[in-house]
Amino acid sequence: MYRKEALGPGDVGKINYTSSINDDAEIFKYVVAALIVHVNELEKNGVLSEDEAAKIREALRGIYRDGYRPGEGFEDVHEFVEAELIKRVGPLGGWVGLGRSRNDHVATAIRLRLKEYVLDLMNVLVEFRKTLLNKARETADQLIIGSTHKQPAQVTTLGHYLLALDELTSDLIDLLMASYRVIDKSPLGAGPLAGVLTRIDRRREADGLGFGGVVNNSIYATGSRFFMTQVLAIIVSYLVEVGRFINNVEMWLMPQLNYVITDPSHLATSSIMPHKRNPATLEVFRARIGEAIGHLMAVLAIERPVEFGYQLDLQEATRHAWAVMRIAIDGISILKDFIEGVKVNSERVGEDLAKYPVTTAEYAEKVSISEHRPFREVYNEVARVIRSDELGKVLLDPVQIINEKLNEGSPNPNQVREEAARRLRSIEQLSNWILNNKNKLLSILKLL
Ligand code: ARG
Repeated sequence: MYRKEALGPGDVGKINYTSSINDDAEIFKYVVAALIVHVNELEKNGVLSEDEAAKIREALRGIYRDGYRPGEGFEDVHEFVEAELIKRVGPLGGWVGLGRSRNDHVATAIRLRLKEYVLDLMNVLVEFRKTLLNKARETADQLIIGSTHKQPAQVTTLGHYLLALDELTSDLIDLLMASYRVIDKSPLGAGPLAGVLTRIDRRREADGLGFGGVVNNSIYATGSRFFMTQVLAIIVSYLVEVGRFINNVEMWLMPQLNYVITDPSHLATSSIMPHKRNPATLEVFRARIGEAIGHLMAVLAIERPVEFGYQLDLQEATRHAWAVMRIAIDGISILKDFIEGVKVNSERVGEDLAKYPVTTAEYAEKVSISEHRPFREVYNEVARVIRSDELGKVLLDPVQIINEKLNEGSPNPNQVREEAARRLRSIEQLSNWILNNKNKLLSILKLL
């Protein structure tokens, strides 16, 4: 439709090659909602009569109700909806091209869809935090040998590890709240690059779509994808850290360590070795975290050569954003379920505590303080004992050791339980923030 008079009908093969019509299923709802708000605006500023605007709105709602089945030959959802509109109400449908371009329109729809994904992810993260914190309380005194360099390091507890993962997740949620404000600005009315002549109240359009504000500059509004890359970078950075925790769990699940026991629904076996118990769900999540890095790199690499205005390259970046969001939402949901079912095999941990000296740092600390001798002197003495066969001399009771740790953030079980309880109490506020924003976003569905 767009190209007919300018370039001729074109070639279906090439139109399909450059088309975003399939990817646009993600944003169809928001594309129609933004058009309705735009028609409202054209009515309010007197371009369209009440009757004309009503007819167009009605047809747009009909298009939405009939679902997204665009078929072939359209460049994108924008062309499909406009063509469908003209089919339904005749040339009157052509008014929707006034005072609007695909560049501000698609940026608007992408921001709305991204807001929905971010809020859905935040909901999953809050539920994940509740699981982590409840489990942390439950396992605050279940010992685990913590490792560094994949070597036994110090004694701690599963609860202490889970509080670490929870603090990471809380930091992500903080960043997502700030990140949401960057996404929550409307580009609608910015035109293709340098605005439009038609009088548009951009703030009123933004309000109509439940945005918190507008992107002021029309070049930034249409040409930039920073609103997308910033949130993806934060999420992918978080996922990489989560993947590292998965590495720990994977070690603990090895029969050679056997420190934790999982619900068998997270395991798979082998087609030939019936003894195998493979941590399938964690392996797949970890692989998808790798994919998420790839998707983030794809978005950045696609955007990098594009000038500071719209080029069709940007269209090709969008699907990678949705992929990252789905990887995060699905993966965290799986990990939450894993954590709910995990149990510490205290007997096995106890055996290794008797075998590996993991309280020698604390032993040296104690001697250094009680005998008032420089730490290095004691450290060297302890090192010599470890090399001799008198290891038993420097082994301390691990339970006593963690109970004696009183500094903030240590594995002291009382402290872990209190901290978990404190964090659980503060979570309600987060749920309210998410709910308010979700309601604001969903309110635009009333337009349809
Ligand atoms: N389908 C495009 C996208 O998803 C929007 C259209 C902009 N096209 C253009 N030729 N200016 O980004």
